[in-house]
Amino acid sequence: MKKIIVTGGAGFIGSNFVHYVVNNHPDVFVTVLDKLTYAGNRENLAGLPADRVQLVVGDIADGPLVNELVQDCDAVVHYAAESHNDNSLKDPSPFIQTNLVGTFTLLEACRKNNVRFHHVSTDEVYGDLPLREDLPGHGDGPGEKFTDHTPYNPSSPYSASKAGSDLLVRAWVRSFGLQATISNCSNNYGPYQHIEKFIPRQITNILSGIKPKLYGDGKNVRDWIHTNDHSSAVWTILTKGKIGETYLIGADGEKDNKTVLEQILVEMGQKPDAYDHVNDRPGHDLRYAIDSTKLREELGWKPEYTDFNEGLKDTIDWYTKHQDWWKAEKQAVENKYAQVGQ
Ligand code: NAD
Ligand code: DAU
Repeated sequence: MKKIIVTGGAGFIGSNFVHYVVNNHPDVFVTVLDKLTYAGNRENLAGLPADRVQLVVGDIADGPLVNELVQDCDAVVHYAAESHNDNSLKDPSPFIQTNLVGTFTLLEACRKNNVRFHHVSTDEVYGDLPLREDLPGHGDGPGEKFTDHTPYNPSSPYSASKAGSDLLVRAWVRSFGLQATISNCSNNYGPYQHIEKFIPRQITNILSGIKPKLYGDGKNVRDWIHTNDHSSAVWTILTKGKIGETYLIGADGEKDNKTVLEQILVEMGQKPDAYDHVNDRPGHDLRYAIDSTKLREELGWKPEYTDFNEGLKDTIDWYTKHQDWWKAEKQAVENKYAQVGQ
């Protein structure tokens, strides 16, 4: 694989993958195709050498542009998406356009040009799980974590649009013989994540003198993985994965929101209860948990950044030192949340 397209490569996780490829695979040239929506940022690619990476600003739903780029590459790694649940509850339309029509456009270009496709998806396509405390086996028995056999049951317009995009990929594999794989990953954290998301929102609230905001009772569990580990997993699947297969990516990082928030507060020198309870998210998924045995046993991947405390400290440090990266947007993001009591 010498030339790859990374869609959404100026976003949080896509840009991490671009850095990963540049740092670890010197023979690969990356074309980033990114529309630079509110979530995309050229700065996320700053410092990368021009002879290794080019940024094409464009829409994945632009058929002629996509076809022109795909003709000249060996693989497409597809990260571009509208990615925030809360935004999808306010206005689902861009989610349908980018996540469904955009994915369809890429699939058609890869089909016509016989190009390898990897689709980056989310564990949210499976809906949610009961809390561990409500399960007889405390959450580790059969069916108590997501696997690639868990039935799809998405809750929000965002997760429904991602579920639909996964099904498009599966259909293109089966009906057209597209050379594609899918990965479904759990919640990522790390530097460069947009400040609308849970962890960076709370860190930047504290840095801005605003109280952190917890939805509902904070019992909801997310299965955190450092974004560096997501990148190595996607590369593993792209290069070693079996065509037509789905791999779940996770690092056994389940934590409830209240615990994570208290940890951020204490790490930043605040009292652990110095936050506001705010309106819950409608349809709020309770618990996510990934069983990544297939990826680990069949492809030999394992996560490296598994110390959540260390990862969280580094992330706090990054937002503290990179206030220029987020400060200009902070007020607008908080105003949007305030409109819905969050
Ligand atoms: P993000 O919102 O930070 O970045 C999305 C990127 O896609 C941005 O750079 C944006 O400009 C670009 N984009 C949006 N619409 C586009 C379009 N029409 N054409 C071209 N580019 C467009 O998202 P993220 O958190 O980095 O997530 C990336 C991918 O990973 C998504 O597919 C998401 O569903 C998936 N994912 C995310 C997580 C997570 O925890 N954040 C977990 C699992 C899977
Ligand atoms: O599981 C993978 C998914 O993780 C990805 O597909 C999504 O793109 C990504 O955004 C993320 O979705 P979540 O909805 O889980 O992430 P978010 O950061 O929005 O919220 C994490 C949890 O924190 C969730 O239970 C809602 C809660 N929350 C969120 C915000 C923004 C709060 O309690 N307070 C907040 O201010």
